[in-house]
Amino acid sequence: MTASSAPAPGTRSADRAEPAEAGRPADHLSWCADPYARALRTGRGPLFLRRTDGRLLPLEVERWCAGADEADRTVLRRCTGAVLDIGCGPGRMVAALTAPGRTVLGIDPAPAAVARTRDLGGAALCRSVFDPLPGEGRWDSALLLDGNIGIGGDPAALLARVGRLLAPDGVLLAEAAPAEVEERMEVRLDDGRGDTDPDRHGPFFPWSRLGRTALRARAEAEGWTVAEEWDARGRFFLALRPGRDARTVRGAAEAERRIRGRGRGGDGGHGVTSR
Ligand SMILES: C[S@@+](CC[C@H](N)C(=O)[O-])C[C@H]1O[C@@H](n2cnc3c(N)ncnc32)[C@H](O)[C@@H]1O
Repeated sequence: MTASSAPAPGTRSADRAEPAEAGRPADHLSWCADPYARALRTGRGPLFLRRTDGRLLPLEVERWCAGADEADRTVLRRCTGAVLDIGCGPGRMVAALTAPGRTVLGIDPAPAAVARTRDLGGAALCRSVFDPLPGEGRWDSALLLDGNIGIGGDPAALLARVGRLLAPDGVLLAEAAPAEVEERMEVRLDDGRGDTDPDRHGPFFPWSRLGRTALRARAEAEGWTVAEEWDARGRFFLALRPGRDARTVRGAAEAERRIRGRGRGGDGGHGVTSR
């Protein structure tokens, strides 16, 4: 996608969170929960994903709310053309790409994340990756960082969706979990301060974690090619190219149906205007 054909993000008609009834996947609302909004407002944790067995996965709110660091810069250097940051959070990557004048759009269903990204001068839309998006099939680079391969709890469905968002020669820069894990789970956002106080946590939603080996295997099984792997400051990244299979409409449509089926079902006809 060239800068001139890039989407003009941020139109007011499209930047609000759509209601749950609209047929979007159920998980996106979970990140609109108070603990996440509070953490992003203050730029500080503690914030966790709490599993159903009570174990806590810490979330690095302070790092997300700071500027892009050395490890992030290894990703930024590999971005080409127009960049879609999926689950952009408070927007450090969007901001870092915007500063030198790159075409970049952050998407995130959490209004607090979108607000913070815009405060940094970045373009962001309040959307789920499974919603209709501007520039589908034309993005040169897509980012799934900071555990975002876990979005929706079904990595195959997410990869299929990203395959349809990217241009045929596009690249997905994805971060793997630091541990060699492959797990799907139900989690909820929790500030760790009061498990029983509903103000302190959100609803449970599906999530997954994939270490390097699992992410590589999953991507290859879904028709992607691993172009590069690297690590920086204890974080692990893969550059993935979508093969023809990763972009087939049928495979992606099936995967999206699977994800949407967790919500109210339907075909996602929520009438969001993309451009
Ligand atoms: C683990 S956090 C990562 C934060 C982020 N990458 C950053 O730079 O701060 C996951 C992010 O993905 C977003 N998210 C959750 N479900 C999503 C979905 N269906 N589509 C897009 N983003 C989603 C959340 O709102 C949250 O901001």
